[in-house]
Amino acid sequence: MNIAELKKRFLDTYQGSEAGIRVFTSPGRVNLIGEHTDYNGGYVFPAALTLSSTVIARPRTDRSINLMATDLGILVQASLDNLEEFKSLKWGNYQLGVADELQKAGYRLTGCDLLYHDTVPLGAGLSSSAAIEVATAIALVSLGNTFHGTEQPIDMVEMALISQRAENNYVGVNCGIMDQFASAMGRAHHAIFLNCRDLSYKHVPLDLKGYKIVIANTNKKRGLADSKYNERRSQCEAAFEILKKYIPGASCLGEISIEEFGRFKHEIKDETVRKRAEHIIEEDDRVLRSVEALNNNDIELFGRYMSASHDSLRDLYEVTGIELDTLVEEALKIDGVVGSRMTGAGFGGCTVSIVREEAVDRVMNEAGKGYTARTGLVPAFYVTEVGDGGREIFG
Ligand code: GLA
Repeated sequence: MNIAELKKRFLDTYQGSEAGIRVFTSPGRVNLIGEHTDYNGGYVFPAALTLSSTVIARPRTDRSINLMATDLGILVQASLDNLEEFKSLKWGNYQLGVADELQKAGYRLTGCDLLYHDTVPLGAGLSSSAAIEVATAIALVSLGNTFHGTEQPIDMVEMALISQRAENNYVGVNCGIMDQFASAMGRAHHAIFLNCRDLSYKHVPLDLKGYKIVIANTNKKRGLADSKYNERRSQCEAAFEILKKYIPGASCLGEISIEEFGRFKHEIKDETVRKRAEHIIEEDDRVLRSVEALNNNDIELFGRYMSASHDSLRDLYEVTGIELDTLVEEALKIDGVVGSRMTGAGFGGCTVSIVREEAVDRVMNEAGKGYTARTGLVPAFYVTEVGDGGREIFG
């Protein structure tokens, strides 16, 4: 649906006139490398997609907040004065969580009607939820645009942090900052090299001459993903509790070097906990090397680090599963695939591969068929461009 069609749909739903209607959008993301490092104060290297959540928004003055999506027949009607009541909504809780956190942060909201149009596949590990959260945050702040009564330019890093808090506190998923940061701060043709310890970042040109980024969806439903995610987080915390006794300067796993880990890892007696920490420490180092490889235009080396990342997520962090492993194996059989790995939290969802242009069709056909033959599932492919982060759309 284009913007004119979306505005028409908005008016069919909410009536009234076009006056005051504004349009905001924020993208999903693919993480190229640096998985499960964000909540350990490590490095990540995501890129924003051109798949996004777009919201048509018009202000109200009665503190009502109404939500609707183009692909869902439900209208959620809430009030900014009793947001606590809506935490268990199946759809709408991300948006209301953002409204809640914005108010807690001192933003004065007046109410609004919102219509969402989402093109990020849901639950596929491409951050459809972060896209909705960040689009909502910029819409609500722009419509109100008062912070303790004064006009402020929108601080996109703050929008990312507020969106993350909405997911942590309102939705109840203990995620890190990567997804919301990538959605808010993405830039076309660039990946974001982000240090999750202090949120310092660099946009790195993704000049993949002759290569494409191919995302493949396993179409495996991600059961129990949240509880396993939280379990990995606690195992990392347990590893750090032990290591910090021997490395007193470190404030998180992301601050521990491979050498330091090698010296003290035997102090972690639980083998599972030790494996989790080993993944984090090595993955962090792989991000640094990958960015360097890309800066040197060495796409093949970059691809090898991606594949090594997958192996580590399979063997040490144990978040891949048969579907992701099979899709990666089938992709790597095709000549011209220089690297392939799972992306996002894991336990299903998507893989990301770097593929020579002329091999893209073969990946979609042959790797797709091989995957179906082995799993019975039919994958979906997205040959993706890297897009811009959250913004208002004019015109
Ligand atoms: C999910 C979380 C992120 C990050 C990734 C794993 O996408 O939302 O914060 O932890 O998993 O890298």
